Amino acid sequence: MCGIVAYIGNKQAYPIIINGLRRLEYRGYDSAGVALHNREDGNMHVYKRKGKVQELVDFVKKKPIESTIGIGHTRWATHGKPDNINAHPHLSGSGRLAIIHNGIIENYDSIKKALIGEGHSFTSQTDTEVLIHLIEAIQERDNLNLEEAVRVALSQVVGAYAIVIMDKENPNQLIAARKASPLVIGIGDGEFFIASDATPIVEYTQKVVYLNDEEIAVVNRDGDLTLKTIANELKTPFVQQLEMNIEELEKGDYEYFMLKEIFEQPTSITSAMAGRINAGEGWIKVGGLMSTYDKIAAAKRFIIAACGTSWHAGLIGEYLFEELARIPVEVEYASEMRYRNPIIGTDDVIIALSQSGETADTMAALEMAKKKGATLYGIVNSVGSSIARITDAGSYIHAGPEIGVASTKAFTGQVTVLALMAINLGYERGRIPRSYYLQLISELERIPEKVQTILEKNDQIKFIAGEIKDISNALYLGRGYNFPVALEGALKLKEISYIHAEGYPAAEMKHGPIALIDENMPVIIIANNKSAHEKIVSNIQEVKARKGQVIAIVTEGDTVISEIADYVIEIPETDEPLSPLLSVIPLQLLSYHIALMRGCNVDQPRNLAKSVTVE
Ligand code: M6R
Repeated sequence: MCGIVAYIGNKQAYPIIINGLRRLEYRGYDSAGVALHNREDGNMHVYKRKGKVQELVDFVKKKPIESTIGIGHTRWATHGKPDNINAHPHLSGSGRLAIIHNGIIENYDSIKKALIGEGHSFTSQTDTEVLIHLIEAIQERDNLNLEEAVRVALSQVVGAYAIVIMDKENPNQLIAARKASPLVIGIGDGEFFIASDATPIVEYTQKVVYLNDEEIAVVNRDGDLTLKTIANELKTPFVQQLEMNIEELEKGDYEYFMLKEIFEQPTSITSAMAGRINAGEGWIKVGGLMSTYDKIAAAKRFIIAACGTSWHAGLIGEYLFEELARIPVEVEYASEMRYRNPIIGTDDVIIALSQSGETADTMAALEMAKKKGATLYGIVNSVGSSIARITDAGSYIHAGPEIGVASTKAFTGQVTVLALMAINLGYERGRIPRSYYLQLISELERIPEKVQTILEKNDQIKFIAGEIKDISNALYLGRGYNFPVALEGALKLKEISYIHAEGYPAAEMKHGPIALIDENMPVIIIANNKSAHEKIVSNIQEVKARKGQVIAIVTEGDTVISEIADYVIEIPETDEPLSPLLSVIPLQLLSYHIALMRGCNVDQPRNLAKSVTVE
């Protein structure tokens, strides 16, 4: 949440910052701003605008932007409404220091009151402005240089932050720090880039340093990078090579990233399996699993912790691990788990699922479980992210950058990795016979081509979207492995089209939601389960008897459901444990088209941000 970009070097900073902010806009789009230092007039020029980065660009046209140092921010509002005043950067009391910030300073109110008592006044309602006033106050009071003052101030604040600070009187230096909010430094040739993730950096350099919690970096125009902890301990920067290419960050011929990412799934699912499966030779090997095999195979229980779409993938993980590997599983909302006092011990394995690898609640749940001695396993998309680093072992899903706020290819990547792990463990633990093991392997390898055939039904799905686009509510039903898919379908619809939607286990319908059904309530039923086919047919009959409109996702050739449903979308047959990888695809497309037809911004739905780094 909130995107940070900063630059120091020989190039013009403004275009680099704006380009980077556009890449980070998925993290928040309530307002955007930049601070630039003009060498000729010696002034710091701060431009801020409510709304998207384009509003800022339009505002800045014809204004002085000459600068080889600068900081920029795209905001997801926490403290203070989204407007020009609360937009970042914020200035210190004297106007000498400018700061951009991602995170929340929880004790800002008491600091603010103390500063007001010392004569400070504030223009915004933000916690960020309080922090930069505090830094300057400490600098002046204790006669410290900026780096020292930042260190002292950060030791006094409670909360989360990724910050970059620029000093008008020293335009040869930027100071950055992080705690529980991501920050990465790109090292170029005599230049540095600082950003919330690597996407603004990758076109300039592949060399990066990910800051750890409570680290402060000082970058100088002469190419010097110094890393220290808040406790003033010198650290050696760990320089890593980025695994990302620029094409992955572009929309290409697609109108929206979400559509591009939906259509990338045959490739992204293949990437999630690459090097981990071989149907010809009949094996699955999941590297991360191997490295912690003894602990994982001996686990009394898996606890899957995640949020949102990743939590839905986790629910599918529960079905997979319990059925195939016979390991007991609990699936936790990370936001709840972190504040309970769950019974977790050294025999537990916590599996964290996260696309961004930065979700604050998931990180906090992991930190708590780590203290209790559990083994931590991460299934993450963003390479080098906080969750990837805190876990003892893990498996990247290798989906490539997911930029649309609505998660699509990350979900199928997560389910693919969970399936690989469950099949692997099930076989190694002697819970599934070799014949079934080989069948699942060969079926898993065929999933990408089956996803492709579903994508080819895009026009049919678009037609159905057109028929139901004006609805106010929708009910999604599924059984077994497809119950979490019903939840995911409902989430996709609500987050991008703002239509109220609920996901339910199909059999639960008669315990309440059936009261909602009338001719205005479309019911989307995921009906491709082999094992419960007759029961699903009964559920559909129950909906039809109450004049509900049924859109059914069925297995190719299912004439029974085709005759009773209003619309059917046929998908290829597969083994039930793998069926979510297929059944979710039409639901993603359906939501996409409905949202587009209702004039919604599919990639940047209102109030949301891609990476939820605050509570
Ligand atoms: O990056 P994470 O997977 O940890 O994010 C979790 C949720 O915030 C995320 O899945 C969210 O629900 C998406 N907007 C769903 O499309």
